Amino acid sequence: MAQSLRSWLGGCLLVSALGMVPPPENVRMNSVNFRNILQWESPAFPKGNLTFTAQYQSYRKFQDICTSTVLTECDFSSLSKYGDHTLRVRAQFEDEHSDWINITFCPVDDTIIGPPRIQVEALANSLHMRFLAPKIKNEPETWSMRNIYNSWTYHVQYWKNGSDEKFPVTGQYDFKVLRNLESQTTYCVQVRGFLPDRNKTGEWSEPVCEQTTADDVQRFRQLRPQKDAYTQVCS
Ligand SMILES: *[C@@H]1O[C@H](CO)[C@@H](O)[C@H](O)[C@H]1NC(C)=O
Ligand SMILES: *[C@@H]1O[C@H](CO)[C@@H](O)[C@H](O)[C@H]1NC(C)=O
Ligand SMILES: *[C@@H]1O[C@H](CO)[C@@H](O)[C@H](O)[C@H]1NC(C)=O
Ligand SMILES: *[C@@H]1O[C@H](CO)[C@@H](O)[C@H](O)[C@H]1NC(C)=O
Repeated sequence: MAQSLRSWLGGCLLVSALGMVPPPENVRMNSVNFRNILQWESPAFPKGNLTFTAQYQSYRKFQDICTSTVLTECDFSSLSKYGDHTLRVRAQFEDEHSDWINITFCPVDDTIIGPPRIQVEALANSLHMRFLAPKIKNEPETWSMRNIYNSWTYHVQYWKNGSDEKFPVTGQYDFKVLRNLESQTTYCVQVRGFLPDRNKTGEWSEPVCEQTTADDVQRFRQLRPQKDAYTQVCS
């Protein structure tokens, strides 16, 4: 009893001695493909539950994005992609509040480039790949990370399933063909975005594995019943 009273008093004295609410801890920006989530942890505070207010600076004035939220994150995806932004967050309890914790954030430099998607089709002894650059939050459906970065390039690596030897290939287009592979062999491929002018790499996609088919020209023709075939018959 005496001890719990003392620790209760101790807690009280500590809080009133500082005269304020402790600030949010471990404040960081978690930004992937311009989905910008400011995150933090709630500090220990014996008097009750804290709320948080997060802001960004716009022409010298600070604007609230999240006001008195009980959450420990705030979505800043609406920020302009360009330039340095000053963001800040503080904790509140009743009429008191903590100091602001400030961070600077430049979306176009700092955002993580997420993995592209990849579609792979085996045709005889080649693999036909189609890449889809990561989509961007708050942009029209057709907009992708490719549209933001002029130097956007795909880094591909492929390997025989089960082998440790990986072969790199780069490409600027959304399509790529790997030719002259071994037939009836399973190959795995993965892709990431790369920005040569910034020397910045994105995250690898999960590997996709496909088996090449028999190296058989007849089969290859059967897979593609083309108009050309009819043209030849008719002419
Ligand atoms: C503090 O938050 C917890 C969990 O969200 C909740 O169960 C509790 O009732 C809250 N306390 C007060 C004083 O609001
Ligand atoms: C954040 O910036 C404000 C003013 O710009 C300053 O008063 C405050 O001390 C800063 N907070 C920290 C934790 O440095
Ligand atoms: C890749 O090889 C492993 C064994 O080395 C096998 O278990 C797995 O099923 C193979 N994956 C594909 C897609 O063939
Ligand atoms: C590019 O970045 C990698 C590490 O991410 C580094 O090893 C390499 O030296 C850099 N290249 C140049 C030209 O700066």
